[in-house]
Parts: sequence; structure tokens; C-alpha cells
Amino acid sequence: MLEKYEKLQKTLDFLQKRMTIKPQTAIVLGSGLGGLTKSMEIVDEIPYAEIPNFPVSTVKGHKGTLIFGRIHGVDVVVLNGRFHYYEGYPMETVTYPEMVFAGLGVKTLILSNAAGGMNPTFKVGDIMVIRDHINFFGTNPLLGPNDDNLGPRFPNMSEVYSHRLIKLAHQKAKEQNIHLQEGVYIGVTGPCFETPAEYKAYYLLGADAVGMSTVPEAIVGAYRGMEIFALSVITDLGVVGQIMEATHEEVLEAAHSAEPKMIKLIYEMMPEL
Ligand code: HPA
Repeated sequence: MLEKYEKLQKTLDFLQKRMTIKPQTAIVLGSGLGGLTKSMEIVDEIPYAEIPNFPVSTVKGHKGTLIFGRIHGVDVVVLNGRFHYYEGYPMETVTYPEMVFAGLGVKTLILSNAAGGMNPTFKVGDIMVIRDHINFFGTNPLLGPNDDNLGPRFPNMSEVYSHRLIKLAHQKAKEQNIHLQEGVYIGVTGPCFETPAEYKAYYLLGADAVGMSTVPEAIVGAYRGMEIFALSVITDLGVVGQIMEATHEEVLEAAHSAEPKMIKLIYEMMPEL
């Protein structure tokens, strides 16, 4: 076995011994979006540092616990604090949680993030369901030797984000009177926010929102055969004429105020995942 999979097996052994529920759904919480943990039923909360071989997060606003619990009657495992490429972690570490989720038997992966909006119809505080992505990280978490037992050498990316779940999101959003945008997310390394020329270039490439996460995790999720659903909270605008001087604090603040809508949407979708 490759050394990296031996390492993963140790993480899985620890969690499998400890788990009292076996969730089929995993949720990754983005910057400023940790509030979901307050409205869920918590069964067990494990600091990353206590999990063998699990990475530890460094960024402000990211706590770093793996939570097992229930939302709207459905068992879930929640990654409360993700690992970003800009923190200096290799892609393998950034996507380690998704490898763990798959190993634990998770079938549905829900990703959330804060993002800058380039689409001129977007406003700060909007929620965008991700229809597709552009990997602009300049690298890929699946580089290197492939274990064919885990996934294909050349994974198909024609429907990374489940059309079924996108449809369900629109239906639930309508019922709940939540204004829901839909679009393409472009993933970049950060840590710089974009220059006006970069926002414009990404929009011309076909992206509606830009952020520093999600794409690597979605790639590994798709590789491991998970059904994926992802939401961006638009925290600042990169629209020509409306470009904001985004700061991390403003991003967290905007994410935080849009959070109740996102939580509501996920809550409503849960029983039909
Ligand atoms: N750019 C990149 N990442 C982001 C942004 C942005 O404007 N806003 C929140 N995350």
C-alpha cells in the first residue's frame, strides 16, 4: 500500500472506533459559515489535533473540529474549519478530509465557501449554487500515482455538481423565499484578493464567482464517487465599476450575515439528499 494510504487508514481506524453514528452526508463549512454547528444536534465533536494524522488549520475564523451529529433528522459529519492551499498545505492535505469522508462511507458532500462575485447581477449577501467550476489553482490534488481501487486515473468531470441537488436547492429556495443565484465558481490559490483586471479576466473566462477553496475538494469528492452540492456566499464584488476593497474581516462579516439563509436552505434540503 502507498504510504499515504497507510496514514489514511490510521485516521479511519480511530474514527471508526469512536463513531456512534455512520453519516452518509458530509458538510464542509466555509469562512464565516460556522454557525451551522449551533443549529445542529451534536453527537460528538473532535478537535483535529486529537485525530491521528489529521491536519490542523491555521486561518482566523476556522476552529478546527470534526463534528458528528444530526440536521433535520439526518446524520452528518461536519468539517468545521477547512484547509486552504494558501496556508501552505500540499493539495494532499487540503483534500485529506474528503478522502477520510469517503473512507467512512459518506455518499454526499456539501461544500460551502465565501466568494467574490463577478456577475453584475450579483449582490453582496447573495447565495450562489455552484453549477460548475474552473480549476485555476495551477495544480490538481490527484497528481501522482493512482490507486485504481479508490478512483479512476482520468476522472470524468462532466457533472461534478449534482444536477439533482441543484434542482432540489432551487425548489427548496423557492418554497422558503430565498433568493438563489446559480453560477460557475473559479478556484484560485489566493491569498491575494483579485486585481480589477483579474476579476474581469475570470468573468470573461466564464466564472461568476471566485474563491480560494472548494475546487480541490470537489475534485477529490468526484474522484471518490460522491454526489456533490456546493454553495457560495457572495461576500464582495469584483464587478467593473463596483470593485470593493475586500478585507478578510469584511468577507467574514458578509458571510456571517448571509449565513442564516444558507443554513435554512441546507436544513430544508437535508431529508431529500
Ligand atoms: N476573491 C477570492 N476569494 C474570495 C473573495 C474574492 O473576492 N471573497 C471571498 N473569498
